Amino acid sequence: MKIQRFIVSLLSISGVCAVACICCADASLAGKRAFEENCAVCHPEGGNIINPDKPLSKSSLAAGGIATENKLVWLMRNPGPGMTSFDEESLPDAEARAIAHYILSTFK
Ligand code: HEC
Repeated sequence: MKIQRFIVSLLSISGVCAVACICCADASLAGKRAFEENCAVCHPEGGNIINPDKPLSKSSLAAGGIATENKLVWLMRNPGPGMTSFDEESLPDAEARAIAHYILSTFK
């Protein structure tokens, strides 16, 4: 009886973990994929082939006051000179946010 209950709770805990892990992996994968599709041509590996003074490194983002997800999404909508502008139609908020998360958690 006790063992059965133990097994049931073990199963439900691992079920919750599996679901959580799949969701996390999906979210960061979506960010990576969207980044590669939309941004990597000019920002390979977080660099900047057009204006090398503005890479996606933490220090450069911090210097520009844009090291948060919200600010990064704003910048995709209102970019500086030489960068493609992404409106909500070409890059929906959820995707822009996933990219911002990917940038902040990937480039040092
Ligand atoms: C056509 C090339 C091009 C594409 C595509 C592009 N960028 Fe840029 N990006 C630039 C250029 C050029 C700058 C520098 C603009 C400036 O001088 O302010 C820049 C600047 C940035 C910055 C500021 C970096 C800093 O250190 O201040 C961020 C963040 C950024 N881009 C994110 C993105 C994201 C996210 C995408 C994809 C959704 C993207 N870029 C797509 C060319 C591009």
